[in-house]
Amino acid sequence: MRTVKTMGLLGTGVIGGGWAARALHFGIDVIAADVKPEMESWIRGAVANAEPALARLTFAPLPAKGELSFTTDLRVMAERADFIQENIPEQLSLKQKMLAEVSKIAPADVIIASSTSGLTPTDLQRDMLIPERFCVAHPFNPVYLLPLVELVGGAKTTQATIDAAALFFTFIGMHPLHVRREVPGHLTDRLQEALWREILHIVNDGIASTGELDDAIIYGPGLRWAAMGTNMIYHLAGGEAGMRHMLAQFGPCLKWPWTKLEAPELTESLIDRMVEGTSEQAAGRSIRDIERLRDDYLVAIQQVLRQFNIGAGSTLRALEERLYQDADTGESTSSSLTAALPLRLVTTAVRPEWVDYNGHMSDFRYGQLFGQAMDALFRKIGVDADYRASGHMYYNVESRVMHFAEAKVNEPLYVTTQILAADEKKLQVFHSMHRVHDDFQIAIGEQLYLHVDSGAAKASSAKSSVIAKIETLRKAHAVLSLPEQAGRIVGARR
Ligand SMILES: NC(=O)c1ccc[n+]([C@@H]2O[C@H](COP(=O)([O-])OP(=O)(O)OC[C@H]3O[C@@H](n4cnc5c(N)ncnc54)[C@H](O)[C@@H]3O)[C@@H](O)[C@H]2O)c1
Repeated sequence: MRTVKTMGLLGTGVIGGGWAARALHFGIDVIAADVKPEMESWIRGAVANAEPALARLTFAPLPAKGELSFTTDLRVMAERADFIQENIPEQLSLKQKMLAEVSKIAPADVIIASSTSGLTPTDLQRDMLIPERFCVAHPFNPVYLLPLVELVGGAKTTQATIDAAALFFTFIGMHPLHVRREVPGHLTDRLQEALWREILHIVNDGIASTGELDDAIIYGPGLRWAAMGTNMIYHLAGGEAGMRHMLAQFGPCLKWPWTKLEAPELTESLIDRMVEGTSEQAAGRSIRDIERLRDDYLVAIQQVLRQFNIGAGSTLRALEERLYQDADTGESTSSSLTAALPLRLVTTAVRPEWVDYNGHMSDFRYGQLFGQAMDALFRKIGVDADYRASGHMYYNVESRVMHFAEAKVNEPLYVTTQILAADEKKLQVFHSMHRVHDDFQIAIGEQLYLHVDSGAAKASSAKSSVIAKIETLRKAHAVLSLPEQAGRIVGARR
């Protein structure tokens, strides 16, 4: 398969909009096609809505954003795209017809994937030209924040297609799950639907409301599910004997059974109960308001999982590794070691959880951002996980921060870092934090780091490869003037 520079989308509703936001964010151009011309402004709005949450997902350096273009002509999209994702309504005959049409135009080495929630790939690829390059790639809403994508091949799909699709989706920060046998509903929607059917029964029988049923998940199982699935959780619930004991204990209930597999009749009264229940839960909040809340906690959860390198957190870590590597190989002038410029190592936006009761970024977050800049600097000079594992690291021995203006929620910021002094043991740096929109300097930080041998718990010389890189940087920065606020003591007049 070719390298994907442009992703083509067929159908730009909820899912097409989500794909666009994700791809653009990670530097892929998007050409979106929809039969309705009014979907152009819709998809641009959807991308803009996704941006605040996406911007907070990672501190890793991102490539320049991709460009979005729109057409009502499927042919234009199919001729230009390097990878095509279909997201039109869930109707087999419509999808078959449109996929066949696209396949006649798209070059042979372009993969064509479908976002279908439950149709099977063998059915979908039936009338396609070169059906070997087709697969199902089923994402989850919001596509721009949830990493899971189920990949399913049909009778004619080649393994090369699945592998190439997995590579592309990994590149844009996703977790491809290869569903080895095609079944209606793939894996996740079968599980989700089983739960939903039960919900509909319980509401229909007047046992509980939609809100009570949501509470039954979010205060308990939902918290577990973010990092461990049902099987691992039940393995733990069985005590020392694990799953075997769990099955012995609860096996009989499975026979009774507690649950009903057939869906209830969707009567008007059941529909009313579901709609009234959920609008009561929404309590006057708009869909956009609730979406924003959902996006904020989805970002925060992934960052917590990242610390444990588990589930979606390990996907985020792997993505960040790739982004740092790419940034190092395609060095921009403002982050190169030899440029006579402070390094621009962090660009981010103030996250909602960072602000205090005044609506401004809390003071300890300044230290966090300067710490992020140091992490990025360390990576650049070769102080990485392997270096730390060898028992060596820099410890912070002194820090000073000055504040000049506040940063409000969602304000985009960047941090630059200048080397003030360095030798084989010491590293003295000066950070400057700015608003992106007018470059105004809102804070500075000055820090002294000492290289240590962590086993011996003593100061020690850095390894020669690290010293060489620091020396290159120090020389490049030696021509810069000393920042006005450098070297001051606390309380000195400005
Ligand atoms: N909504 C979800 O949560 C979700 C999640 C995963 C997968 N999916 C799947 O994604 C697909 C799209 O779902 P959605 O929720 O985005 O639907 P949607 O109704 O929001 O969007 C469908 C879009 O397709 C366009 N369209 C219709 N016919 C077309 C054609 N012939 N050519 C080009 N565009 C056409 C429509 O104008 C519309 O903009 C479905 O297969 C669905 O099963 C949906």
